[in-house]
Amino acid sequence: MSTSKLNIVILAAGKGTRMFSDLPKVLHPLAGSPMLAHVVATARQLKPATLCVVYGFGGDVVPQTISGDDITWVLQSEQKGTGHAMQQAIDALDMDAVTMVLFGDVPLIRLQTCQKVINDAIHGDLALLTVHQPNPAGYGRVVRSTTGEVLGIIEHKDASEQQRLICEVNTGIMAMPTSKLAYWLQQLNCNNAQGEYYLTDVVAQAVQDGITVSTSNTENLNEVFGVNSKKDLAYLERAYQRELADNIMEQGITLLDPNRIDIRGSLVCAKDVTIDINCVFEGRVEIGIGVEIGAHCFIRNSTIADGVKIAPFSHVDGATISAQCHIGPYARIRPGSYLADQVHIGNFVEIKNSEIASGSKINHLSYVGDATVGREVNIGAGTITCNYDGVNKHRTVIEDGAFIGSDTQLVAPVTVGAGATIAAGSTITKHAPAGELTLSRGRQTTIVGWKRPGKLVDTEQ
Ligand code: UD1
Ligand code: CA
Repeated sequence: MSTSKLNIVILAAGKGTRMFSDLPKVLHPLAGSPMLAHVVATARQLKPATLCVVYGFGGDVVPQTISGDDITWVLQSEQKGTGHAMQQAIDALDMDAVTMVLFGDVPLIRLQTCQKVINDAIHGDLALLTVHQPNPAGYGRVVRSTTGEVLGIIEHKDASEQQRLICEVNTGIMAMPTSKLAYWLQQLNCNNAQGEYYLTDVVAQAVQDGITVSTSNTENLNEVFGVNSKKDLAYLERAYQRELADNIMEQGITLLDPNRIDIRGSLVCAKDVTIDINCVFEGRVEIGIGVEIGAHCFIRNSTIADGVKIAPFSHVDGATISAQCHIGPYARIRPGSYLADQVHIGNFVEIKNSEIASGSKINHLSYVGDATVGREVNIGAGTITCNYDGVNKHRTVIEDGAFIGSDTQLVAPVTVGAGATIAAGSTITKHAPAGELTLSRGRQTTIVGWKRPGKLVDTEQ
């Protein structure tokens, strides 16, 4: 087919009354991005000549959230139904093309399924995507003649008891020649249970005009699942997460429990990766060969190289972790951190905007921020870089092979020279020379023979 002859209209103006939210329904996130963003991404892959989104409830927040110069935004200021929404878009469309309609609240529609529907419409048909729903309540039902031809779609609220027994439902996804659509849209009325202009009424009109209504089907109920409530959204989130988990397991990744992982972005794993339960991945995360990630880790926009071990309850955000590093448990690696090979970061250690060269160890209860740490440095428990003077941030430089005793404060800007030793409990405010022992603390004294006070005797009685 010639893809230049395709219009796509995504309907996304509805309030989503049943969400009970001020956020427009189509902006509620599924797997970390707005439902509408999922639909737009799929639509783009079809390379339409016109990609039109009808927005309304919430106003500009919808176009502001979903970026793209390729989108023609059409405002439907009053939401009078899906047919009314299409009426607003029709002038933006190429009359010689096929128009496909997608819904902003049906986020998981797949490319191949759209292509099937478009192909039917290219032959001049009104093409509908329908599905057999074991629980069809709420959906529009596909009404067929005794010989099986589609007669029309009846909305749940307008359907008789008898019609409600029909399990073949309208997914909302349809395609048809645009000039015919334009004509049918002019004929719509709102004489129905909801007082709305239903796009679904064009189906009966096509039948009247002798246009073939062809239906295609999908087995995948998730891709046509329409989200109308928070309960629907939670259901679809879990179903989608399970699909994502299955995909990565098919690539050889070990998940201790595929029902307890959340991928909100793209997770790319090399082989022999093991991920324990309840880990959350956000943004773009790349994981190398043989990496082990313990339970309850949160990892966002990070690269984790081969052989890294991340122990439970660790938080890695905007960081590059090189090969064979050990992280956690309970570590927090914040944006701008670069860890070279074989670095060890232990429990209750926070690293921010710092480079740590290979083989260095920061194993317990430390804060290292805005620092450059050399190779084979050992930072003792409770060490803190005092990087912030209340106004500006300053850098701490610790050169190769330095040893920082426990409970040291390094008041930046400050440098600890190569091979220097800092005695425990020091507050370092000036350059600590290479190879020397530097300390700053009160000398220990003992008062020989000192006695603890005894209990006072009450003399007033
Ligand atoms: C719609 C279909 C129904 C189908 C179901 C599938 C109609 C009349 N009904 O019902 O047959 O089974 O989807 O999920 O089409 N919208 C607008 N402007 C409006 C109203 C809605 O842009 O004035 C948008 C919404 O943002 C949403 C989509 O259209 O993305 C569907 O609207 P919704 O109200 O959810 O329709 P349903 O009742 O689910
Ligand atoms: Ca819906």
